[in-house]
Amino acid sequence: MGLAINIYIFCNLVMSVESWAPKLPEERELTTNCSNLSLRKVPSNLDPATVTLDLSCNLLFQLQSSDFHSMSQLQVLILCQNRIQQLDFKIFALNKELRYLDLSYNRLKIITWYSLAGLKHLDLSFNDFDTMPFNDFKHMAHLETLGLSAATIQRSDLQKIAHLYLHTVFLGLRTLSQYEEGSLPILNTTKLHIVLPMNTNFWALLCDGIKTSQILEMTNIDGKSQFVRNRTLPTLTLESAKTSTLLLSKVDLLWHDLLLIFQFVWHTSVEYFQIQNVILGGHVYLDHHPFDYSNTAMKAIRLEHVHFRMFSIPQDKIYLLFTKMDVENLTISDAQMPHMLFPNYPQRFQYLNFANNVLNDDLFKTPTQLPYLKTLVLKGNKLETLPLVSRFANNTPLMQLDLSQNLLQHEKDEDCVWPATLTTMNLSSNQLTDSVFRCLPRSIQILDLNNNKIQAIPKELIHLQALRELNIAWNFLTDLPGCNHFTGLSVLNIEMNLIVSPSLDFFQSCHKIKTLNAGKNPFRCTCDLKEFIHFEKRSEGVVVGWSDSYTCEYPLSLKGTHLKDVYLPELSCNIALLVVTIMAIMLVLGVAMAFCCLRFDLLWYVRMLGQWTQHKARKTRQEQPERHAQFHVFISYSEHDSPWVKNELIPSLEKEDGSVLICLLERQADPGKSMDENIMSCIERSQKSIFVLSPSFVRREWHPYELYFAHHSLLHENLDHVILILLEPIPMYCIPARFHRLKALMEKKAYLEWPKDRRKCGLFWANLRAAININFSGARQMHELQTFTELSQESPRGSTISLIRTDCL
Ligand SMILES: *[C@@H]1O[C@H](CO)[C@@H](O)[C@H](O)[C@H]1NC(C)=O
Ligand SMILES: *[C@@H]1O[C@H](CO)[C@@H](O)[C@H](O)[C@H]1NC(C)=O
Ligand SMILES: *[C@@H]1O[C@H](CO)[C@@H](O)[C@H](O)[C@H]1NC(C)=O
Ligand SMILES: *[C@@H]1O[C@H](CO)[C@@H](O)[C@H](O)[C@H]1NC(C)=O
Ligand SMILES: *[C@@H]1O[C@H](CO)[C@@H](O)[C@H](O)[C@H]1NC(C)=O
Ligand SMILES: *[C@@H]1O[C@H](CO)[C@@H](O)[C@H](O)[C@H]1NC(C)=O
Repeated sequence: MGLAINIYIFCNLVMSVESWAPKLPEERELTTNCSNLSLRKVPSNLDPATVTLDLSCNLLFQLQSSDFHSMSQLQVLILCQNRIQQLDFKIFALNKELRYLDLSYNRLKIITWYSLAGLKHLDLSFNDFDTMPFNDFKHMAHLETLGLSAATIQRSDLQKIAHLYLHTVFLGLRTLSQYEEGSLPILNTTKLHIVLPMNTNFWALLCDGIKTSQILEMTNIDGKSQFVRNRTLPTLTLESAKTSTLLLSKVDLLWHDLLLIFQFVWHTSVEYFQIQNVILGGHVYLDHHPFDYSNTAMKAIRLEHVHFRMFSIPQDKIYLLFTKMDVENLTISDAQMPHMLFPNYPQRFQYLNFANNVLNDDLFKTPTQLPYLKTLVLKGNKLETLPLVSRFANNTPLMQLDLSQNLLQHEKDEDCVWPATLTTMNLSSNQLTDSVFRCLPRSIQILDLNNNKIQAIPKELIHLQALRELNIAWNFLTDLPGCNHFTGLSVLNIEMNLIVSPSLDFFQSCHKIKTLNAGKNPFRCTCDLKEFIHFEKRSEGVVVGWSDSYTCEYPLSLKGTHLKDVYLPELSCNIALLVVTIMAIMLVLGVAMAFCCLRFDLLWYVRMLGQWTQHKARKTRQEQPERHAQFHVFISYSEHDSPWVKNELIPSLEKEDGSVLICLLERQADPGKSMDENIMSCIERSQKSIFVLSPSFVRREWHPYELYFAHHSLLHENLDHVILILLEPIPMYCIPARFHRLKALMEKKAYLEWPKDRRKCGLFWANLRAAININFSGARQMHELQTFTELSQESPRGSTISLIRTDCL
């Protein structure tokens, strides 16, 4: 019991979706795998639902009648590689579903039959039967494949299963001590596969095999047995031969014996003859046994993986031996063949395959006549010159040419001539460069240039209008090709190149593209890639390998990012759009500026603000008033402007948090003094002088100031003490030429402009105050004191200086 539990744990339970065994219709089935567990008995508690049970590679030697009773679903039972010696088929009586039973590689000697109606596949090969175990054989109507073995094969034994219509008979022989001629043809089967033991005479089995089935396969043809060479060739009439396909594998023969086999098979019904894994030894004596090429059904010969144990081979004769066979298809591949020769008369070959030999350009040096050749496979050789191949091909109606895995090159100036029939060319894995495009047939439809040294597709190449498929992967291209030279292109493979950013030309010219593989290129994920990403989105399913094979290489910050995840905003990628946007923004700003200038007199504000900041800057520079003065400001204006001065200017200055002492000339002019003296007196006693400019002021009042300023050069040295308020615009021509100083001031626009718009007045006053720039609170008491003392001093002289007290409001 303990053993059983352990085994239950060890056996591998699999719910498999696909089944390894053929002909099993179920989609899902339970597989119990107890393979290779050194079992001596079938585990007792296997899952009854098991459909497939693998007990192979164990130590089972006897099966019990109860072993498989519970498994009513069992369809596949594998018991190969055990030690079972005898078997009663009755133990499977309850396994009604059983279809596949493998008992190969056991030690079976005795079988007791029971009719298993559903069985399709029964393998008894590689067992220890002395004779075929069909004594009490029960009919199994559905049997298709039967594996057999016996040391002695007799007609009488096989006669017992002659009524079976089989698909495949597999004769896996460990030993063969006796074969009675004419036994195999008793079987009715489509395919016969015989695996011979070593050192067996294969001739009798080969002869009978050819009489038995349509397809005959024989493995382990070993000619070391003396039996072979004493044998005279059997003669076989075409009527009795059935085989059309003959496959020999694992062949180890002397050249002479191989030749005998060829000569024998040549005159049978065999149409397709394939020999694989051949080792050839001995000497080649072709002259003594001329090959009889007459009277054959042979159409195709395939000789693969040939290894020579000979020292000297008269090569020319061997080549001609095969090429004179003149069948439809001839393949000699993986045979270390350095050369090939054709007879100098026309041959019927349609398909020639000399893949994986060591053929070089000499192959094309002798003239050949192959007027039916459609396919030529020369892959894996040492060919070097493409134009030579083209001249060879040009004498044939070649359609397919495989020249992959050679050393082919093409020099720029060499001419190529191809037959107009050529549609498919495989030039992959060669040494070809850009110039190969000058050596291509115009008729080419499918072209494989994978793994060469192509850097660019030349623009001046001949037009390949028929080209549908182009594989140019693993080269050194830096861009996708445009389709101007091959407008019909529908499949393009260009992966593993050096494409950084695909150019627009491709998307514009390649309209018929249905499949594009451009993966594994070092893409630079910038705006240039936008078109490609769009193309992928637009053309669903066209781009192969999306998105895993498409990652950024540059910039380094995006390295490894999938192209589909890269964010490229429209605005930053579209230069036209960017320019338009910037222009639009600038236009809007310009319009807004213009509007503001017109509507709100923006320039006036700007100028005022400029002046204001200048005043502020100056104020910080000179905190201390430079002059010792009685008044804060002296205001000079024309009579015409006095309403403004009285109603606007003075009240506004008084509103300030502190008192401004204002000196007004009209009130303070000393009649005893000249005008100039009065002015000088006023200016000198005030920290600042304000001139309210208007045309009438300029006309009537300015003259003395011009003189004064001229005299004192005051305006040059210290503009800070002069504040000009432009009350009304003064056209330049209104200013007389002699007033250069005023002109200069006006040109410099060193004035505060009184705004027409009342809303702007706030800024005007702020500017004015900044210009006056008086440290009110500090100056206040001192000024009051000074004023009173001066008053008391000056009153006797009848001074008309007016004192305006400007207290806090
Ligand atoms: C059971 O497992 C062995 C390897 O242990 C494997 O070779 C065999 O194919 C498996 N059998 C089935 C039916 O899957
Ligand atoms: C069977 O198992 C042994 C180890 O238990 C292993 O070495 C061997 O390769 C296995 N054989 C097969 C055919 O799986
Ligand atoms: C062989 O089997 C087929 C059916 O598969 C049958 O038509 C044919 O008559 C059989 N031949 C002989 C010789 O019994
Ligand atoms: C093969 O022929 C040689 C003579 O050619 C003879 O000596 C030898 O016994 C023969 N072998 C068999 C197995 O017949
Ligand atoms: C010859 O080869 C061609 C191309 O592989 C194939 O289509 C054709 O069936 C072959 N002919 C024979 C008789 O095997
Ligand atoms: C060209 O040959 C290579 C290998 O020789 C093969 O892998 C490839 O599929 C062939 N190309 C075509 C288009 O058949």
